[in-house]
Parts: sequence; structure tokens; C-alpha cells
Amino acid sequence: MRIGVTGSGGKLGRASVDRLRADGHEVVGFDTVGTPGPGFTRVDLADYGQTLDALLGVTARHAGLDALVHLAAIPVNGLVPDATTFQNNMAVSFNVLFAAQRAGIRSVVLASSITAMGFPFDDAPPSLPVDETFTKANNTYGLGKVAEEAMAAQLASWGDGSSITALRFTNVVGPDEYGTFARADEPGYRRDLLGSWIDARDGAAAVSLAVSGATPGFRVYNVAAPTSGTAAPSREVAERWFPGTPVAPDLGEFESLMSTRAIRRDLGFTAVDDWRSPPQT
Ligand SMILES: NC(=O)c1ccc[n+]([C@@H]2O[C@H](COP(=O)([O-])OP(=O)(O)OC[C@H]3O[C@@H](n4cnc5c(N)ncnc54)[C@H](O)[C@@H]3O)[C@@H](O)[C@H]2O)c1
Repeated sequence: MRIGVTGSGGKLGRASVDRLRADGHEVVGFDTVGTPGPGFTRVDLADYGQTLDALLGVTARHAGLDALVHLAAIPVNGLVPDATTFQNNMAVSFNVLFAAQRAGIRSVVLASSITAMGFPFDDAPPSLPVDETFTKANNTYGLGKVAEEAMAAQLASWGDGSSITALRFTNVVGPDEYGTFARADEPGYRRDLLGSWIDARDGAAAVSLAVSGATPGFRVYNVAAPTSGTAAPSREVAERWFPGTPVAPDLGEFESLMSTRAIRRDLGFTAVDDWRSPPQT
């Protein structure tokens, strides 16, 4: 397939471009930052005209796309004022999703986030592990992700046979960032993330599987490593952080408290990198 990747210059974007190319796809990256040359076009996705034109075709780059991976965003609160985070991300996602539909691109994978399901979990989630049926925003970045998912669900029903898959990524850890797990036995480590994490290369593998496994309609999947980023067993961690919250009787010893069961069942995705053993190179 010829696949467009927005946010191709970012952490997850770079890993996804590499993975999609390794899986045999032709990839065109779209971002405001990146190295000019084949396979990349500089686009401000906050501008609808630029977005639509870039998805329809770009001289010397592509003449149409089979699928689109939408990762471009301001990826956290605090980088810019809170309202700007929401306004940029909403405008960019509307432009990208609507332009994709106008351009006849019927398969889209969209980056959502654990911030659409309760991060930073000042309040306990309804049950553990938390699955995709729980939706809750506590800041403007998360509010954008909740609204983007809702928008995507509607748009997927407008286009005949359209497929939009939202991937709720937890914190993405680069191969050079495993030093963070030196703190894994601290009692509050990753509490705001339910202890979850995902290696960037595994996140990219989930993106590639979501593209190749696309079926008509809208769906949401959590993307996290199957085992937690905490040193203590998950049931002990759950009781420490959220006493009294129901825990699945079949929770594995170190199973992620952000459920990865749906994406494993439907797309066959299981992250392979584990901080307990050295990362792949
Ligand atoms: N990194 C994480 O831990 C994490 C966790 C959950 C979800 N996500 C989501 O995954 C996606 C990728 O995150 P990331 O960590 O790679 O972020 P990143 O900041 O590294 O990359 C995002 C890219 O989007 C681009 N971008 C932003 N606004 C743009 C615009 N108007 N036009 C063109 N390009 C624009 C930026 O230039 C940047 O290269 C985002 O949607 C983010 O919200 C990330």
C-alpha cells in the first residue's frame, strides 16, 4: 500500500515510518518538521487547504494514498497554553479526517491516548484492567482525544466502507529511554499511567497491524505492553493505588492494568519489547 503518515517527524511517527517501510509499504510523511526529500512533504495540517491538497497528491511524491496514519498532534499539555493544545489538535484532526474522506482514502488509523480514559487517574477507574469501554478526559489534551474519537466514529459512518481505527497509546518509551525503569520499584512510579508503557517500536507495530487489519467501521484499541512498567505484581499495585476497585479474577501476575486484551484478540497484537530484558537493537 501507499500510506501517508502525519506527524512523521515525531517520536511515534519516525518509528511508524520505519516499520511500515520494513513491512513493504510505500510511505509519504507529512509534518511541519522533517528532512526534505523523497517520502516526505512539509505540511501545516492546521491549514485545511494544505491538508486536502497534500492528501490528494504531491508532485514528485505521490499521486494518491491507499491509507493514512494520523499521528500529528501537540502530544501533551504544558507545551503551549491549554486552549491552544485543544484547538490545534482538534483543527488538525478534523482537517486530516475530513480531507482523507474527500480524497477517497477509506482506511485511517488515528492516535488516541490513555488521556481519553482517565489519565492521571486521580479518581479510581471503574475496574482493572481498564478497557476501551471507559472514556474520561481530565485535561484539554485528553478532551481533544475524546472529541477526536467521537468525530472519527461519526465520520466512519459517512463514507461507504470507511475504516477508522483509534489507537489509545499509553506513554511511548524510546529504545534510548529504558533508563526510566531504574525507578520501577518506587511505590508511585507510573501511577498516573496505571503503571503502563509501550516501546515506540511496538507502538509502530500496532500501527502497521491496524492498517493491514482494517475493516469497515470505527473501533478503539488500547496500545500498551502486555506487562506493566512496575516491579511489583499488578494485583499488589492495584490494591496500593486503587483500594477497593474491582480487579479481574484472571489478571496475570504482571499484566498491564491498561487492558491489552482487545487488540490481542482482534488484531493479534502483542508488544515484544520488555524493560525486564534488554531492548532489541
Ligand atoms: N508519546 C506518547 O507517550 C504518546 C502517548 C499517547 C498518545 N500519543 C499520541 O501519539 C501521536 C504521536 O505522538 P509523538 O509522541 O510522536 O509526538 P511528537 O511530538 O514526537 O510528534 C508529533 C508530530 O506532529 C507534528 N505536528 C503537530 N502539529 C502539526 C501541524 N499543525 N501540522 C503538521 N505537523 C504537526 C509535530 O511537528 C511532530 O513532529 C500524537 O497524536 C500523540 O498525542 C503519544
